[in-house]
Amino acid sequence: MIQNVGNHLRRGLASVFSSRTSRKSASRAADEDAMAEDEGYRNPTEVQMSQLVLPCHTNQRGELSVGQLLKWIDTTACLSAERHAGCPCVTASMDDIYFEHTISVGQVVNIKAKVNRAFNSSMEVGIQVASEDMCSGKQWSVCKALATFVAYRDFSKVKLKQITPRTEEEKMEHSIAAERRRMRLLYADTIKDLLANWTVQEDLDSRDCSRMVPAEKTRVESVELVLPPHANHQSNTFGGQIMAWMENVATIAASRLCGAHPTLKAIEMFHFRGPSQVGDRLVLKAIVNNAFKHSMEVGVSVEAYHQEAETQRRHINSAFMTFVVLDADDQPQVLPWIRPQPGEGERRYREASARKKIRLDRKYIVSCRQAEVPLSVPWDPSNQVYLSYNNVSSLKMLVAKDNWVLSSETNQVRMYTLEEDKFLSFYMEMVVHVDAAQAFLLLSDLRRRPEWDKHYRSVELVQQVDEDDAIYHVISPALSNDAKPQDFVILASRRKPCDSGEPYVIAVRSVTLPTHRETPEYQRGETLCSGFCLWREGDQLTKVSYYSQATPGFLNYVTTNVAGLSSGFYTTFEACKHFLLNNRNDLAPSLQTL
Ligand code: COA
Ligand code: ADP
Repeated sequence: MIQNVGNHLRRGLASVFSSRTSRKSASRAADEDAMAEDEGYRNPTEVQMSQLVLPCHTNQRGELSVGQLLKWIDTTACLSAERHAGCPCVTASMDDIYFEHTISVGQVVNIKAKVNRAFNSSMEVGIQVASEDMCSGKQWSVCKALATFVAYRDFSKVKLKQITPRTEEEKMEHSIAAERRRMRLLYADTIKDLLANWTVQEDLDSRDCSRMVPAEKTRVESVELVLPPHANHQSNTFGGQIMAWMENVATIAASRLCGAHPTLKAIEMFHFRGPSQVGDRLVLKAIVNNAFKHSMEVGVSVEAYHQEAETQRRHINSAFMTFVVLDADDQPQVLPWIRPQPGEGERRYREASARKKIRLDRKYIVSCRQAEVPLSVPWDPSNQVYLSYNNVSSLKMLVAKDNWVLSSETNQVRMYTLEEDKFLSFYMEMVVHVDAAQAFLLLSDLRRRPEWDKHYRSVELVQQVDEDDAIYHVISPALSNDAKPQDFVILASRRKPCDSGEPYVIAVRSVTLPTHRETPEYQRGETLCSGFCLWREGDQLTKVSYYSQATPGFLNYVTTNVAGLSSGFYTTFEACKHFLLNNRNDLAPSLQTL
């Protein structure tokens, strides 16, 4: 079932689409019914806030200060979390935020927040921010944010009830939230590992000294006393308030470098490490860590202490913010170089360069729409976590689509198709008498795939990245006598379910590796999104679904199968079933841990 370009009949395509159109109209009608039923539907956790931007909310440039915006974002998100939890919640973390637009005085800010998923005591809240010009009626998206809140009752964490997603968008967010949580919890370690292995040394001595500003000149220290208006009814400081204070000191540091009014473009993902309460003093320290051509990174750290115990400071937060300086035409200006202090300053300077590279990779891979991601992305230590995320979330997004159409059924194996944008996708589904965890083990080891899939002639494990991710080099047989065999370099990422309603997932996508470049011997094939979802249907009963998104080279083969002109997919899937049944009792040692 790997992308196997067949020399199949184009006419298959016409018949596929004509026969499927009628089924699709039936399905569209069903969709419309569902939509009608959903008319007026509003997510029960959704909370909205609209604020008119007044001069008291603006910065030196007459634009809404990001600190104020962060307070509104945090409040809206917290109220949504509390609506679901039914008890007080605290901000645990905020994912990266990229600000697309500034907001001017007189405009309205519209903030919408809803809980995407509840885990144990924590939940992910998705926030959308738009600005509205009331004179022209125009609206702009300003940013999207994802915050994690933890629910507390009587100072103990609360076990939350699950969220049941209803719409396609809610199902997608719900499914991918598990993957985002995984990335969030790994984030600190991932960054630490990447920084430790970052080798690029910048030659500070070759820089033009006359354009260099000593980092010391940008250092800021500021203290804040937490008063009741800064805290919730349990006296815990609002996360948004702390973010606003952090933005304040970071802006001062950035202004000192450029001698102008800077604009905040991005905030890196951060974690509220510990709480602070009314009466605490917060010491905020900021400095410009590095200045690039058009942007600079400012780091801020926050410590809290009680008046009676000033020496016992608690480090409660650190964040990294990216600023630019815009000219009258909103074009970024060239910034002066920074001269870091020897020691700690030089370390932070280098780490800021590494973070910039990581941030760009992450932004590209994580926020790209799937259709825009090139087929084979280079595999690199700085992007491996994000490629793995992209691999699993692309498959989950495909699974969550609600416009799949049943295309055919043979021997209780069903084939569904989905036409969207430039892609044709299909999935096959069957129920097998095998334990889901065992099926997961058997199917996630791609070295065993040649046992049932004739499109996999041989498989070499190139790199076991971690427990859940591996890179394989796959050779596929030649498709005709005069064609070359194909080869693929693929990343397989597997995930166990987060809760009982979720499937086991095995996602596959192409990557490129410097050690496995294209050779004249093989034709290089590519796959963007495919893999298995395994749902536990009962004891020793698993629903096995295989999904694949057909890339152009694979389209003929898929349409021929979908049209019923070939039974290749059914034969392969049947072979997969026998493989699972024949091996259902091989108790692998790691099975116990699944
Ligand atoms: N990002 C997202 N969620 C995180 C996280 C992070 N960096 N670190 C922990 N969590 C989640 C865990 O996954 C867990 O969720 P689950 O129960 O759904 O599985 C939950 O937080 C509790 O984690 P745990 O490890 O048991 O707790 P902890 O003792 O580390 O507490 C906080 C985590 C966030 C509650 C704690 O660090 C805290 O109180 N921070 C300050 C919160 C606050 O006061 N914010 C307002 C501004 S000060
Ligand atoms: P790190 O030093 O590894 O970056 P920290 O959490 O100690 O991590 O600090 C986060 C950021 O806060 C630093 O990168 C720096 O920009 C800023 N910072 C920390 N300590 C100070 C300080 N004493 N003065 C000014 N800024 C500071």
